[in-house]
Amino acid sequence: MKFFKSAFVALSLVGSLVSGAALEKRGKPSTKYFHEPGRSDLTGHYDIRYFKDVVDYDTRLDTLRHMVRAWLQTTNAEGIETWIAHGTLLGWWWNGKMLPWDWDLDVQVMDTTLVKLGDPKYNMTVFPYTSDDGTVKRTYLLDINPYSAERVRGDGNNIIDARWIDMTNGLYIDITGISETNPKEKPNMYHCKNYHYYHINDIYPLRDTYYEGVPAKIPYAYDDILIKEYGVKAFTVTEYEGHRWNPVSKDWELTGIVPADKKKEAASYKSAQVVPEFIKESNGQGVFSNLWRLFHWW
Ligand SMILES: *[C@@H]1O[C@H](CO)[C@@H](O)[C@H](O)[C@H]1NC(C)=O
Repeated sequence: MKFFKSAFVALSLVGSLVSGAALEKRGKPSTKYFHEPGRSDLTGHYDIRYFKDVVDYDTRLDTLRHMVRAWLQTTNAEGIETWIAHGTLLGWWWNGKMLPWDWDLDVQVMDTTLVKLGDPKYNMTVFPYTSDDGTVKRTYLLDINPYSAERVRGDGNNIIDARWIDMTNGLYIDITGISETNPKEKPNMYHCKNYHYYHINDIYPLRDTYYEGVPAKIPYAYDDILIKEYGVKAFTVTEYEGHRWNPVSKDWELTGIVPADKKKEAASYKSAQVVPEFIKESNGQGVFSNLWRLFHWW
């Protein structure tokens, strides 16, 4: 009898928990458009629809490189204006390539371009891709967030306006638009929904360059933009997240911090969490630890 009673109590407890969760869901439906399998660095950078498992180091780099080439080539062919931004732009500054510890890539567009991309001609279109050497075949989904029409931050759930998603594993490029939302008081000031501000003359005229070996565009005042976002240290720190800058090969190379066998990204992720010596010395205070946090955040 006792057993039945506690089973009953347990059951009703489960029942009330379930209905409680359901109620909460009904009460505050999430506005978030894009969904990831998790929130950590490890799982937060995949589109949930195409995620199967966390990929290893080499697969991630390979996936992101082909993905950004595909984006740049497709937009170029379609006459869609876009330029590289944030950590992706910082990678360009170093050697015209992505930073090998980045989990995703960032590009920007004007809000007028977002409107164009939102048209069914582009939105939810699947783009086939074959690498120049013919060895890699992928498909990418271009998905435009309906909240991209709103140019202010709102509840913060939809600061990413669009994604270019590798349909084999869910890794993606974040596409964000910039808008002049207050032309009276802040004329010529453009910003994304995460409130990175840019003067129009810092963006235009875009400069032609190469990224991961294909033609790309960068903002006119790329150096000012990078310093404002990451500080001058971003140009001088040569050891980061288990990588060391090799000034001869001009490449970020893996150091011993990340296991040489590069098995699962999980392993390298854990190792990458080891705070480098020069930051430890600062006792978590001051410029180095702030820099660490900043680097870590992006
Ligand atoms: C893009 O298509 C998806 C799927 O149909 C839709 O949910 C979304 O609202 C569309 N985006 C825009 C900007 O219309």
